[in-house]
Amino acid sequence: MTAPALLDADLRDLNTLHLAARATRLQPVDDAADLPALTDALRQRDERVLVLGGGSNIVFASDFSGTVLQMRTRGIEVLARNDDSVLVAVAAGENWHDWVNHALDQGWHGLENLALIPGTVGAAPVQNIGAYGVELVDRLERVEAWDMQDRCWLDLTLADCAMGYRDSVFKHRLAGRAIIARVVFRLSLTPAVQAGYADLQRELLARGIAAPGPHDVFDAVCAVRRAKLPDPAVIGNAGSFFRNPVLSAVAAANLLASHPGAPHYPAADGSVKFAAAWFIDQCGWKGKRRGDAGVHDRQALVLVNHGRASASQLLALAVDIQASVRERFGVDLEPEPVIVG
Ligand code: EPU
Repeated sequence: MTAPALLDADLRDLNTLHLAARATRLQPVDDAADLPALTDALRQRDERVLVLGGGSNIVFASDFSGTVLQMRTRGIEVLARNDDSVLVAVAAGENWHDWVNHALDQGWHGLENLALIPGTVGAAPVQNIGAYGVELVDRLERVEAWDMQDRCWLDLTLADCAMGYRDSVFKHRLAGRAIIARVVFRLSLTPAVQAGYADLQRELLARGIAAPGPHDVFDAVCAVRRAKLPDPAVIGNAGSFFRNPVLSAVAAANLLASHPGAPHYPAADGSVKFAAAWFIDQCGWKGKRRGDAGVHDRQALVLVNHGRASASQLLALAVDIQASVRERFGVDLEPEPVIVG
């Protein structure tokens, strides 16, 4: 049974940037079966609705006038199993890292590279979370969601989810209408590690591990993340603040002619992804601080709130970073988190 709503709710502890913001109503969701009744009532009152998971990929630029639905549902259910793989449905409100840990304990392989990503399971498909050579799309089977506009349950296949780099149907056609209730994963029962990502390989070598197993990859990913990325519990942040820009083959060749050192990753379709962190770093932003808004000193792609930064201070810093990268490299950086307000 879902708990009652809270009025004029403080959202500071519900977003990992720790930005001060309030919502007209905060409605916890403890049972996905309550979603139809809850959202019908909100739509009848013509209220704006925002779905919140761990609040780790969101910037509250202002107060939210409407109802925030806080997904707190729990549950992990094995749907099927064969000799090679297991199909597992996980409730949207489960903590992502706890789920990765649980899967590893059960011998369900394939999520090791995605260890320590902040947030909830239900938020993972929205931006197709990815790290150290693996993206959610590589392990996803389907997504169950409530469509509050058409008033029906959706069972979305991988193709329906239209996953791309930090992108999915939930940012486009289903934005503002689909509420993810469960995510169904297909995980391998035999270890098949992916340890090719440069940082990961370096860490494994430093540990003297030549043939890593899933636990080694998990431990190494945790170590790399702890060394480079700030823990949101200690210092406010929303992970990468910008997407890595993807340029056409022609634009990429032009850029590389003048900046051959720019880290880049060619894709199968000829486009080339560049490391936004490198551009920002080259512009001298790493470790810079303006009041309590700053750029992380070990990963230039991460903006941090050292304490009491306001959203406008943080966004002003982001705009100046974008301007300097545009001026020096001719590249436009797009914010990665959802900006509300
Ligand atoms: N680099 C710099 N300066 C820096 C940081 C990095 O020059 O301050 C260079 C590195 O030397 C490297 C390149 O930039 O050549 C890429 O750096 P890194 O491997 O740290 O990855 P990233 O592209 O900056 C992406 C994801 C991260 C994910 C890592 C690891 C995006 C927007 N970010 O960062 O995801 O953890 O790869 O796979 O794609 C997130 O989305 O919130 C996130 C943290």
